[in-house]
Amino acid sequence: MSFLNHLQNTNTMIIGASQGIGLGFVKNLLQDTRISKIYATYRQQQTAGELLALTDEYSDKLTCIEMDITNELQIIESVQNISTQINKLHLVINCVGFLHEGDLQPEKSLKQINSENLLYYFQVNSIGAVLLAKHLLPLFRHKEPSVFATISAKVGSIGDNQLGGWYGYRASKAALNMFMRTAAIEYARSCPQTLVVTLHPGTTDTRLSRPFQRNVPPEKLFSVERTVTQLLTVIEQLQAGDNGQFFSWDGTRLPW
Ligand SMILES: NC(=O)c1ccc[n+]([C@@H]2O[C@H](COP(=O)([O-])OP(=O)(O)OC[C@H]3O[C@@H](n4cnc5c(N)ncnc54)[C@H](OP(=O)(O)O)[C@@H]3O)[C@@H](O)[C@H]2O)c1
Repeated sequence: MSFLNHLQNTNTMIIGASQGIGLGFVKNLLQDTRISKIYATYRQQQTAGELLALTDEYSDKLTCIEMDITNELQIIESVQNISTQINKLHLVINCVGFLHEGDLQPEKSLKQINSENLLYYFQVNSIGAVLLAKHLLPLFRHKEPSVFATISAKVGSIGDNQLGGWYGYRASKAALNMFMRTAAIEYARSCPQTLVVTLHPGTTDTRLSRPFQRNVPPEKLFSVERTVTQLLTVIEQLQAGDNGQFFSWDGTRLPW
């Protein structure tokens, strides 16, 4: 029996839902009759057109909230906004992350190390998640099984690193894993019905991977729909002992 099996009337929150995997989760969950509410966050309207358009058709179920994960005040306001409508969350999936943005490209060698860029990787990919863990905790203090998942990346595995490069992205995902593992221990004390996990989606056809897809064999490049289905299967099959673990898209555990 899986952890979330018997859930009905589920309240969910998808963070980073403007495009890519996050938007894919929203579209999938909109069709799931067990889900009653979806709170979907986006950073800026320019890239969130498709998400915002969904609110016309699904106004009862979907609420969109503007939130930049590097801004703690916006996280606080978003959680306050949600708390005026519901008093518990059952499934939160944080899909925020970046590998390249404008001129900021992943480092190929030490020559390209730049402390400002490194700080930005950590702000977006690591610190935002632990701020979410801080402010969402009250909404997980209830007696129903729930999951707080964050999309990480296998390249953040220190044990698995054979290729090198991508210093900022790798290190920020390793830090993300440590933040969430540590939060999982605190959540186990404060809200023991919540599993905190990190998930590797596999290489997925989104803006993030697009410049790096050339050497990926077609069978290893997943569509967003496939990734979302696979990750939802992993989430639905989580067991009570899985708190604090780092899972790949096929449900196997990844080394730290
Ligand atoms: N695609 C892959 O192959 C792959 C592989 C391994 C891991 N991942 C991880 O999967 C997750 C989702 O990535 P994706 O592939 O769906 O990439 P994506 O299409 O580029 O989506 C990234 C999302 O993060 C949001 N975001 C970026 N910076 C933000 C900030 N400061 N505040 C709030 N939101 C912000 C983006 O919003 P905007 O629209 O405003 O930019 C967008 O919604 C990331 O954590 C990524 O590291 C992806």
